[in-house]
Formats: sequence, C-alpha cells, structure tokens
Amino acid sequence: MTASDSKGSTGSAGSAGGGKARFDDIYDRPDPRAYFTRLAPLEYEIPAHAQPVFRQAMAERAAFDDGRPGTPAVLDLCCSYGINAALLNHDVTLAEMYERYTSPAAQAMTTAELTAWDKEFYAGRRRPDAVPVIGLDIAAPAVAYAHAVGLLDSAFTDNLEQRPPGPGLSRALAEAGLITLTGGGSYITARTFTALLEQARRPLWVSAFVLRTVSYGPIERALAAHGLRTVLDSSRTYTQRLFADPREQRYAIAAARAAGHDPAGHEQAGRFHTLYYASRPDAADGRH
Ligand SMILES: C[S@@+](CC[C@H](N)C(=O)[O-])C[C@H]1O[C@@H](n2cnc3c(N)ncnc32)[C@H](O)[C@@H]1O
Repeated sequence: MTASDSKGSTGSAGSAGGGKARFDDIYDRPDPRAYFTRLAPLEYEIPAHAQPVFRQAMAERAAFDDGRPGTPAVLDLCCSYGINAALLNHDVTLAEMYERYTSPAAQAMTTAELTAWDKEFYAGRRRPDAVPVIGLDIAAPAVAYAHAVGLLDSAFTDNLEQRPPGPGLSRALAEAGLITLTGGGSYITARTFTALLEQARRPLWVSAFVLRTVSYGPIERALAAHGLRTVLDSSRTYTQRLFADPREQRYAIAAARAAGHDPAGHEQAGRFHTLYYASRPDAADGRH
C-alpha cells in the first residue's frame, strides 16, 4: 500500500506543530544532558523503536548495488545529538543512553569531560558493521557535540527550509544512500526533502517515523517526483512519547482524527503515535 492510500490529506508537516509542546531550549545545548533529562519523564522512545528498523533498512540499502564503490552513507535528518547514529552503529540502547546522561556521574562533568567520556565509550561500543553517518540539524551545538564524540562523520546545520544546501553539505550528499528521520516530522517539510534529493548522486532511500498528527502526503509527493515510491507500514504504530499535558493530548487527538486516524487506543491512551514510511526507487522497492 502506498502511504496516500490510507492517509488523509489534512495539514502539512510544517503547520502541524501548532498544539504540540515545544522543546527548543533543549535542542541547542553544548551536550545532550538536558535533552535526556527533560525527555526522560515523557518517555521519549521513538529512536529505540527506529533502531532495528534503520539497521535493517541500511543493511538492505548497503546490499543494493548502485554501481558505486563504497558503502553509502546514512543522512540522519534532524539528527540532534546523534542519537540515531549512536543506536545504528554502536552496541548501545536508548535506555542506556538515558541512564548515562541523567546519571550523577554525567551531571557532575563539564562538557569537555563528558565529550572525552563519550568518545571513549562509543569507540568501545562501535559495531563492526558501522556505516558512515552524515548529520543534519539546525542546532549547531548539538551536531558539533555528536561530531566531536565520533557519532557523526560529518555534520551540517544548513536550514533547507530556507535555502539550498551549501557546498559542504552538497559534497557530503554525493555519498548519501539513506535518509533517516525520527522526531523531526513536525519541523521539516517537502522543501527539505526536495533540496536533499536534488543533490543526491546515489539512489537515496528514505526511512521516516512521523507522528500521526502530521500529514506525510506533501513529502510523499515530493519523493515521488524524484522517482521514490513510499510504502506505509500499516500493520502497526510506534509510540513516540507521553503527552506533556492534557492540552497537548486534546490537540493530538483532534489532529490525528483530522488526518484520518482513529485516536481510540492510541492518542486517547496518552501518547503520541508515529507511522513508519519507507521510500525507495520503484525498481528497488525492497525486493531487488
Ligand atoms: C525532537 S528533536 C529529534 C532529535 C532526534 N532525531 C531524536 O529523535 O532524538 C527535533 C530536531 O529537529 C531539529 N530541527 C528543527 N528544524 C529543523 C530544520 N529545518 N532542519 C533540520 N533540523 C531541524 C531540531 O533542532 C531538533 O534537534
């Protein structure tokens, strides 16, 4: 089934943030401690659900012969502190990351000390099948941290909602083979995806977890214009986090309903739910 078969067309990725709690103050800190401390009580968990899915998608993308030498890179969109890169390339769980960054030991460190501690930690947990990861996020301190500790091979802060990629990101995109996305569907629109795909040199697949409160339709159409067919995994949803307050829940129930979803047993039960969308060139389509 294509995503548009089962989704309403109400709203857009850019406009659906209206009633959603904002966490801007934890996105651009010099290290991830505030991010994990603030999100722990809300049980933000979508990167944990994404971990096996992204590993599988990347294994399939790496096995797909695109006629170019070398393993294609993952482009983690809205990468923040490199959480998806940590989970993809290292033997580590999101639960361990919460424990690590909220621990008294971490809380007592300076950012420089935490950076050194993390660098050693992730080097020791590196998986043999690790793949290159390019990080893109407008939060400069967050991506700088992820790069400094070795989670990202390269990091960029271009805001593709506002302008085309600069020369650095354009060069890096030549090697990208898979875009991953968690937690960013309320912030970016088809503009960002179009800008990325215009610079792609290798087949660029997309694996995206997007809130049910947001319509993926405009992005799906932008991807289709670049030869990508989007398939929605309609078999299940994935919980993202608890609602911050009853007002946010009321917004999410209304937005999910407006997008054609039944909130019963989902948003009505207290958490945001996401859907998983996988986009691949028609010819590949996961069965190459
Ligand atoms: C909820 S966080 C998700 C971080 C990470 N992917 C995760 O799941 O833990 C959303 C991120 O989107 C980033 N963001 C917002 N607008 C953006 C844009 N136009 N381009 C790239 N990143 C953006 C924010 O800076 C923030 O780091």
